[in-house]
Order: sequence, then C-alpha cells, then structure tokens
Amino acid sequence: TEETLVLVKPDGVARGLTGAILARIEAKGYALVDIRLVEPDRETLERHYAEHEGKPFYEPLVEFMMSGPSVAIRLAGNRVIEGFRSLAGTTDPTTAAPGTIRGDFGRDWGLKVQQNLVHGSDSPESAARELDIWF
Ligand code: GTP
Ligand code: MG
Repeated sequence: TEETLVLVKPDGVARGLTGAILARIEAKGYALVDIRLVEPDRETLERHYAEHEGKPFYEPLVEFMMSGPSVAIRLAGNRVIEGFRSLAGTTDPTTAAPGTIRGDFGRDWGLKVQQNLVHGSDSPESAARELDIWF
C-alpha cells in the first residue's frame, strides 16, 4: 500500500465541498489515515510549492492558499498517488473531465486556475516530502 497527501484547498472548504470530496475518496476505497484542518503560514506553503518558485502564478497561489483553511489528508491505498490524481482530474477545472472532482465541481465563472479545489502529490518522493510538511 502507498500513501499520498491530499489537500482540500481553501475554495473547496469555503464552498462546503469537503464532504462531497471525501465521499468520492472513500467510495474509491482509500483509507483516511489522518485528517486535519490547517491554516498554513507562508513558510509552510513556500516549502510545499518550492518547485513553482519563480513562476508567474507562484505568489498568487501562495496568497490564495493563505486565504482560508484547508483540509489536509493522509490517504492510503493501492496506487493511491496515481489514483487520487485520476479522481481529481487535470489542473485546469475548465477542461478537467466530467466525473472528476475538478471537472464536476470546478467553478467556471472567471476564477483562476489555482482555485481547483484539491491537491494530490504527484510521485512517491513528493508524497513523502509533502506528508512531512503537513503532518
Ligand atoms: P496539485 O495537485 O495542486 O499540485 O495540482 P497539479 O499537480 O495538477 O498542478 P501543478 O503542480 O502544476 O500546480 C500546482 C498548483 O498551482 C495547481 O493545482 C494550481 O492551483 C496552480 N497552478 C498551476 N498552473 C497554474 C497556472 O498556469 N495559473 C495559475 N493561476 N495557477 C496555476
Ligand atoms: Mg502538482
């Protein structure tokens, strides 16, 4: 079995979608190992998003992630890293496939790409690094 870090980002929490997102995760058979509501400081987010430092969306992304609480989840299951990213859908909610979290719930009335509801680690190395940051 494998573990990943999932975040329900501030837009997901503020819109009351945490339960709907958790329902999909649980229906898929993944196990909630740990879960907490977090209000991350800038330092935490700079560590989490280090790979994006210097990109045009970096600063707005960090600001957005400080705009309200997120729900951090330590999630376990068979091929959960790949599987959760498949449940989440592609980065941009406009083009994320229907049936995915971002495709179904990603609000599409002029909001930014960063408001895409969830985060999921993209590799075993990222998962280990990110779980250490958030838990
Ligand atoms: P995560 O699971 O959140 O890591 O999403 P991802 O792996 O699909 O995307 P990536 O790691 O490339 O980017 C991290 C986050 O930065 C995304 O989830 C978005 O919130 C934001 N982001 C990525 N690309 C853009 C962009 O071009 N514009 C803006 N505004 N935000 C972006
Ligand atoms: Mg990513």
